[in-house]
Amino acid sequence: MFPAERPRRLRRTPALRRLVAETTLSPGDLVAPLFVAEGLSEPRPILSLPGHFQHTLESLRDEVREQQRCGVGGVILFGVPEQKDELGSAAWDPRGISQLALSMLRDEFGDEIVLMADLCLDEYTSHGHCGALGADGSVDNDATIELYARVALAQARAGAAVVAPSGMMDGQVGAIRSALDAEGFFDTVILAYSAKYASALYGPFRDAVGVEIENGGDRRGYQQDPRNRREALREARADLEQGADMIMVKPAMTYLDVLSDLHRELDAPLCAYHVSGEYAMVKAAGANGWIDATEVAIEQLTAIRRAGAQFVLTYFAREIAEELGR
Ligand code: PBG
Repeated sequence: MFPAERPRRLRRTPALRRLVAETTLSPGDLVAPLFVAEGLSEPRPILSLPGHFQHTLESLRDEVREQQRCGVGGVILFGVPEQKDELGSAAWDPRGISQLALSMLRDEFGDEIVLMADLCLDEYTSHGHCGALGADGSVDNDATIELYARVALAQARAGAAVVAPSGMMDGQVGAIRSALDAEGFFDTVILAYSAKYASALYGPFRDAVGVEIENGGDRRGYQQDPRNRREALREARADLEQGADMIMVKPAMTYLDVLSDLHRELDAPLCAYHVSGEYAMVKAAGANGWIDATEVAIEQLTAIRRAGAQFVLTYFAREIAEELGR
């Protein structure tokens, strides 16, 4: 008997495989996270994120030019200030490092590449939490979202096309949308980190921005519990009701089920953040010769697209965009 079904027929040649591929991965689907630090005279390598740097304004501009040359869809900026304080006031200072970087990039690139700003306070607070602390030492939700509104305005004024609140405070999107609208920033896009999990995969990022949470603390009091799947849908729906334009799942590989749920249930543009620990693991194994890092990166980014992400925030952006363009 011959088998009736022969799926292998369509796998015979590269041309056939390409024709029937359900998922694509192109440079424009990738967004590069970039770091800019205050008070540096030259870019400083981030050891746990090989190939990445804390940039000076100048090296940031060169890096964005390279990203653009490779066809990368956007960049998301993180600022590293020299001085931190209780509230994280450098985050909304018009002369703060992220605002200086945003306006420089806006002048240089205009709308040719999508300019995003991560909107949070942890890089700016002396205690390392994502907001203002209340009397009991936990993050005060409602005081924090007022501060987020200030940061959003500072970023919009400096030229961010997209602000991306990543602090997981309740009501943050609504507070930011009203503040932006009240000042006429109707076109400023909100990308909500809707389902951001309290993950152990953020380690290298915290090195990159010099954040250490006070007293060995963690973010489990505000970020989502990795054991929860359905809760992500509630979070994302709430963000959309409050005015989010796009939503995100973070990290990526360990939450593909969540990504797939949001893709099926909601119709807003959806992305995922392939985070620092995910990048570092692939790089480290690759450096040891244990895996082919480029092939694994492409497989992972494709899986994230297949699960439902329209675009992916990834430290692989430039490298893989170059590879795809070959
Ligand atoms: C918070 C923020 C974090 C990341 C992006 N925004 C860290 C955290 O929640 O501790 C992590 C990104 C990564 O690991 O690549 N401002």
